[in-house]
Parts: sequence; structure tokens; C-alpha cells
Amino acid sequence: MKAIVVTDQAAGTAGMKLVERPEPQAAINDVVVEVHASSITGDELSWPSTWTNRVDRDRTPSIPGHELAGVVTALGYGTTGLSVGQRVFGLTDWYRDGTLAEYVAVEARNLAPLPGDVDFTVGAALVMPGLTAWQGLFEHGRLRAGQSVLVHGAAGIVGSMASQLAREAGAYVIGTGRATSRQTALDFGAQDFVDLDNDVLEDVGGVDLVFDVLGGDIAKRSAGMIRPGGTLVTVTGPTEARPAGGLTIDFVVEPDRAQLSEIVRRFREGRLRTNIGNIVTLEGAVDAFNPTKRTKGKTIIRVVP
Ligand SMILES: NC(=O)c1ccc[n+]([C@@H]2O[C@H](COP(=O)([O-])OP(=O)(O)OC[C@H]3O[C@@H](n4cnc5c(N)ncnc54)[C@H](OP(=O)(O)O)[C@@H]3O)[C@@H](O)[C@H]2O)c1
Repeated sequence: MKAIVVTDQAAGTAGMKLVERPEPQAAINDVVVEVHASSITGDELSWPSTWTNRVDRDRTPSIPGHELAGVVTALGYGTTGLSVGQRVFGLTDWYRDGTLAEYVAVEARNLAPLPGDVDFTVGAALVMPGLTAWQGLFEHGRLRAGQSVLVHGAAGIVGSMASQLAREAGAYVIGTGRATSRQTALDFGAQDFVDLDNDVLEDVGGVDLVFDVLGGDIAKRSAGMIRPGGTLVTVTGPTEARPAGGLTIDFVVEPDRAQLSEIVRRFREGRLRTNIGNIVTLEGAVDAFNPTKRTKGKTIIRVVP
């Protein structure tokens, strides 16, 4: 099969190559999926799991990308819950070969059925931002109606999903980003917007939850704005930023069938929108991940046209 592999951590996305690889086999409780659409998350190539297995042995050449939508082509020994021919979408294991390929082996429990009227491109685009936003807001952030949430990078891939979900949950949503992102952030549900280059973040006042995708100094300053009992949730890795009288939680998104089903249900009901940028073929993927010009929104690899 055709697949994109990486072998050189220092090279980043510039080290990606389209090659021929053996098709994966389904292990116990796995399915093999013919990948129709897939994607990769920003800093995945810096995560140890892209380079080593769970006992820290080199696993290169590895196939990156862990988001997918496709069709089940084989079941592993003992696999239940999904059938050959079924449309599915979901998130694959960080430590196994991923989805920038024509086929991937993945545990069935990591996938949810993709309804027939939802395009594979949309399915692939919902997975990572949908699960990350859902888990950050509702599992880790315990967001409730009537609370206020500061969503950093609110026009971005994860932030635009977090804004939509938080707004629908009855929260007051304050988005942040660059000046040029204001309208996009408002369109995705933010009720207020802080231009991080020109406004004073702290002028927003106290909030119950911060959903951080930026880290660094912004995360530290945001911690100081959290009301007692509130939470700073970040997806940028461990941070020393701590709200006084509150919690800091950094997390890596996890597969979740029930959450995926709810997310796609909301998409079908017109309650959620995707934030898709470029759509490219597997052959065009290496160039798309090394753009000469910054692109906005999620890049989707349409593996089967
Ligand atoms: N831990 C996890 O499970 C997990 C899951 C998903 C994503 N992530 C991470 O979350 C981060 C965000 O991902 P994403 O896909 O949402 O990226 P994205 O689409 O690029 O979103 C980031 C947003 O923040 C804005 N931004 C960046 N730096 C800024 C700054 N200094 N001042 C103001 N605005 C700024 C960007 O604006 P511009 O477009 O104008 O730069 C963009 O709107 C990445 O680091 C990604 O790896 C982690």
C-alpha cells in the first residue's frame, strides 16, 4: 500500500516520504480500515510515540496521522461491534502506525460508526478537534451552563470546536487570537474576543475555565484570571501555570466512541461546523504539510478520491 513515513525526528514534516509499505494485519480486537480521509495534528512529530514503541524501542519508519474516516475491510480475532463494509471514523493509537496510508489497523473500540450522509472528509475533520474540545471542556474542565470560559486560539482548529460546544452548553465564551481572527472566532460562537497582540487579556476579568491551546506566557497569565474553584485546561503539555485555588489539567486526547457519536450527531443536526482548510491527496500530502504560506483550518488528506 501507499503510505507516508517518517524516519528522522530532527527533520520534522520535511522528512516525510511517500513510500510502499506492507498492508497492516488485524490483531485481536482490531479492525483494518481502508482510509478514505485522514489527518495529522500539529505537533505529533514531536511526540515520543511517533518514534518509539511503548517499551521505548525505535519503531521507525513510522506512519504518522491518527485521525481517520474510512471503511472496515477486515476484523481481527474476537473483534465485535463493527462489521466489514461499515463506515467508521475515529482516533488510532499513538504508538502504532497511523492513517497517512491506504490502510490502517486500529482497535475497534477507538472507532465509531460514521453515518452514510456524512462525508469522509467531514468525519476525519471532526475527530481530533471534536474529542479534544469535548474532553477539555466537559471531562477535565467540568463546564456548566452559566459559567464563563476563555478559549485561546478560538478561530483555530481546536478552539473553533471548543467555542461551539461551550456556547451550546450555555457558557459565556470569550475567544482570543490575533486581530485578523476576530470575525472567525465570533462566527464560531465566541461572544467576546480578545486580540492578544493589542488588547489587555486581564481586562476580561475572572473566568471559570480557561481552554488553552497556546501555552507559555499566555497560559501563565490566564491562570491568574481564574476564579476560585476554576480550572486551567491545556493541550500544550505540562505547565507550571496554576490558578490560585483552582486546578491545572494538561491532557492528550483519547479515543471515545460515545463522544464521537454525539459529535457527529450534532454535526448532522447543524449544531456543529468543521474548520477545514486544504483538502489534498496522499500524493500531495507531504507538500501540504510543508506549506510555503501559513494555511488556516485543518488539512485533510483525501486518500480515496
Ligand atoms: N494534547 C492534545 O490532545 C492536543 C490535541 C489537539 C491539538 N493539540 C495542540 O493544540 C495546539 C492548537 O492546535 P490547533 O490544531 O487548534 O492549531 P491552530 O488551528 O493553528 O490554532 C491555533 C490558533 O491560535 C492562534 N494563535 C497561535 N499563536 C498565537 C499567538 N501568539 N497570539 C494569538 N493567536 C495565536 C492561531 O492563529 P494563526 O492561525 O493566525 O496563527 C490559531 O487561530 C497545537 O499545539 C496542537 O498540537 C493538542
